[in-house]
Amino acid sequence: MELWIATGNKGKLSEYRLLLNEIVDLKVHHQGEIASFTPRPEDGKTFLDNARIKAKTLRAVKNDVWVLGEDAGLEVEGLNNLPGIHSARYAGPKASDSENVAKLLKMMTLKPMQNRNAQFVCTTIVYTPSGEEWVFTGQMKGKIASKPAGLHGFGYDPVFIPDGQTQTLAELGDGFKTQHSHRAQALKAFLEKWRSTQA
Ligand code: IMP
Repeated sequence: MELWIATGNKGKLSEYRLLLNEIVDLKVHHQGEIASFTPRPEDGKTFLDNARIKAKTLRAVKNDVWVLGEDAGLEVEGLNNLPGIHSARYAGPKASDSENVAKLLKMMTLKPMQNRNAQFVCTTIVYTPSGEEWVFTGQMKGKIASKPAGLHGFGYDPVFIPDGQTQTLAELGDGFKTQHSHRAQALKAFLEKWRSTQA
């Protein structure tokens, strides 16, 4: 089976490679392998809208294989669930991960805030080769740290402490995310459904 991942995010892609690495009969590809591929703007109002935009855009040029598109982000309770769908561009259209993290920490100091509860959420859409749409979700709850720590992962990993842990995701490393992340949960749900169709 060929699974094409609709992402240009290197951090996500390396997580997918790790997660899918043990499945022998599955070959992972990504949109960057198609020289002429142009992503569409993610202008949806929900994670589901944006996941669908990504998956559909790739499916338009790869319509006889499995295609996976995913939209994920960080929801912070004390910021009315922002940055949410704006997570990748929170500090501006071309913001780097460290600029987004800096803006998040700044926003949290603007008003004295006791509530640092947050969650990562992920909505994953898979198109089967025959064009059926499957939807999966995952979430991981935790807290926002007062300062960044750790070198692993990407995005907001240096400031996210999962529930039950004392270190950030960027300190805990790939093994933890492979087991517990929002992305891993949604992907595991997909793999379960996929396996049930192969039986
Ligand atoms: P997307 O590529 O539009 O889904 O953007 C997702 C953005 O949310 C990323 O650029 C990160 O800023 C953030 N994000 C999503 N998942 C994660 C994660 O697993 N760790 C850290 N940040 C994440």
